[in-house]
Amino acid sequence: MSLALTVQAEERIQFPAGYEDKMLNYLSLDRTQNDDQVIRLFATKETLAAAQAGKELPYGTVLVAELYKAKKDADGEVIESALGRRIRGKFAAVAVMQKGEGWGEKFSPEFRNGDWDFAIFSPKGERLVKKDLNDCRACHQPFAETQHLFSLEHMVN
Ligand code: HEC
Repeated sequence: MSLALTVQAEERIQFPAGYEDKMLNYLSLDRTQNDDQVIRLFATKETLAAAQAGKELPYGTVLVAELYKAKKDADGEVIESALGRRIRGKFAAVAVMQKGEGWGEKFSPEFRNGDWDFAIFSPKGERLVKKDLNDCRACHQPFAETQHLFSLEHMVN
């Protein structure tokens, strides 16, 4: 029973095909919680405008995070650029958050992120079904003050 619910919850987010053309890359970072990855974040102009205006992001909002492996040297150490930053290597995955009316209702408090849910795909858009989405939910959950987002303050046009 609960397994069926979990699957349903996971599959209601579709791969956001064509996001590169419809969204703006509002932030790119060395990932703060992984020492060998780089992340690029995307949202629509409308999402950025709503965040900038201090609004609750509306139902239907989609946020995209491109995850990259950082380039490594022959010894397997992450290369640091002249800027002291990691260098984007292989494009590894597309992580998605989407908000839908009532979507949070199924989750117990430790996994509930308001009405946001999570999904992860290969760069080509295949669902990565082995990833435990409760890891996503648990890590974003405490950040209720910033709408369960880490990068809310960076959402500016
Ligand atoms: C251990 C904590 C952690 C886990 C697990 C995690 N995230 Fe995040 N997420 C972050 C942090 C921190 C950021 C800000 C960028 C960065 O430093 O990587 C972020 C940013 C994001 C963003 C951009 C919006 C925002 O919150 O700023 C999306 C979309 C996202 N994550 C999706 C996911 C998905 C999907 C999963 C699971 C497959 C996931 N995250 C798992 C910590 C986490």
